Amino acid sequence: MRIAPSILSADFTKLASEIARVDEAGAGQLHLDVMDGHYVPNLTFGPMVVSAVRECTSLPLDVHLMIEHADRWVEAFMDAGADMIAVHPETLYHPHLVLSSIRKRGKKAGLALNPGFSFSTIEALLPLADYAIIMSVNPGWGGQKFIEGSFERVRELRRVADAAGTELSIEIDGGMSAERIPMAAEAGVDVVIAGSAVFKAEDPASVLRDMLLAATEA
Ligand code: DX5
Ligand code: ZN
Repeated sequence: MRIAPSILSADFTKLASEIARVDEAGAGQLHLDVMDGHYVPNLTFGPMVVSAVRECTSLPLDVHLMIEHADRWVEAFMDAGADMIAVHPETLYHPHLVLSSIRKRGKKAGLALNPGFSFSTIEALLPLADYAIIMSVNPGWGGQKFIEGSFERVRELRRVADAAGTELSIEIDGGMSAERIPMAAEAGVDVVIAGSAVFKAEDPASVLRDMLLAATEA
């Protein structure tokens, strides 16, 4: 299991050193939340910040697009250095085309799935996805409360993917902490995304090490 700190909760006045310390502490990838003030009420950053982050680390960059018209932006985020791009399928008229265009450039294509989103609508897209993000909060902000039942959704998605014969890496995003790592491991989560639990802590590196330890012990 890998841990992916979400920079949404980092101190942006010293982003480079915030990234360096989670990198050194064993982060498996970095999670970057792009929000447009339309699809979600919050507004964050665009490709410029992604390319600045690219300069700071060689960790895989997982760019989570919470935006309308994601199809118009995926190329720019790949140019900026994203290794993985996750889109919310309900934001796209042509999700098949968008996932394919991400893969065509050798990047990993992901589906971000909101609480309550029905997996039956995306079965045909699964063969085009390398990973899925199960949202364990409604997207928009860091520091929200974990929605109970989200691990059951991880199991359900795994069943759907297995039935479709698709290998899928499953990430969980929102309200995650070290205490929930054993449950995540039991549910078959491959990547735990954690924002506030890591970056709002007094010592992010030690929280990250605790999470990694919990993952190895699970
Ligand atoms: C929420 C974002 C998350 C967020 C997680 O819309 O997609 O990635 O950064 O933050 P925490 O871990 O604080 O819930
Ligand atoms: Zn996210």
